[in-house]
Amino acid sequence: MEFKTVGVLGTGQMGAGIAQVAAEAGCKVRMADINREIAEKGKASIAKILGKAVEKGKIDGKRRDDVLALLEPADSVAAFRDCDIAIEAATENIELKLKLFKGMDDACPPGAILATNTSSISITLIAAATKRPANVIGMHFMNPVPVMKLVELIRAMQTDDETYAATKGLAERMGKTCVTSKDSPGFIVNRILLPMLNEACYTLMEGLGTPEDIDNGVKLGLNHPMGPLALADLIGLDTCLAIAEVLHKGLGDGKYRPCPLLRKYVEAGWLGRKTGRGFYKYS
Ligand code: CAA
Repeated sequence: MEFKTVGVLGTGQMGAGIAQVAAEAGCKVRMADINREIAEKGKASIAKILGKAVEKGKIDGKRRDDVLALLEPADSVAAFRDCDIAIEAATENIELKLKLFKGMDDACPPGAILATNTSSISITLIAAATKRPANVIGMHFMNPVPVMKLVELIRAMQTDDETYAATKGLAERMGKTCVTSKDSPGFIVNRILLPMLNEACYTLMEGLGTPEDIDNGVKLGLNHPMGPLALADLIGLDTCLAIAEVLHKGLGDGKYRPCPLLRKYVEAGWLGRKTGRGFYKYS
């Protein structure tokens, strides 16, 4: 499969990152969100990142312009009518994802692959909501997408071998290395990561240390690039809570219980970097 045209549904930090790496791989990208204005904002965020890369001398102005020219903000998912693959990167909410998949299924041509960037929701459930379950797959990128090398591939019960092989080929063309996970809550990466982030929230709630103590403890003591609270702020505390809830509900073990302090931050609307405040404040 050639993947000339890629549709990306959801143009927030993950969707914009996916659109960027797809365009850098030479694909034409249709970017859709709730409306064109939001999709245009997604493209503007990519222009900003590429502009910084030009300033640093990492790429030249022509490369920036060529990549930007491949990105086409759209009014709606109807623009996916000629896409070879559509990648959904919306909020972690099952009802919303099922609705969006129905829209992508209706809009995309027969044979096109429907992928989801979900970080924890059942791919098998999403596939079952479409008329092409064999062409549905999990394609889980890491944040920040242009920097992180991994794509986690998740086969639904229904995914066929061609869909899996073609999606892996596209991820590799985007410069990523793939690991493959079974379709189980949180897959591999978040099954391991979320308990750590959740535990960091408990250490903060129980007053073991300040956010700086907790983060520096992990950063300097375990050699992680950033501390768990700062990482939770980067991922988005609403996303962290949603994944923690999927793990707790799906695996049924009390050890996955979301930390009450994490829930309080989400109730307060302190969702991390994207709202200017999470465990830290951002200007
Ligand atoms: N988009 C594009 N590029 C970005 C970026 C972004 N949002 N953020 C940082 N970068 C680039 C910078 O431009 C810089 O590039 P150059 O080296 O070419 O100059 C490079 O990344 C390093 O950035 P900084 O110097 O600003 O800062 P840093 O060295 O501290 O790195 C970081 C920042 C890459 C985010 C690093 O701290 C890191 O790797 N953190 C851990 C991230 C992580 O664990 N992500 C996985 C989260 S889990 C997930 O995503 C799955 C899920 O479902 C929840």
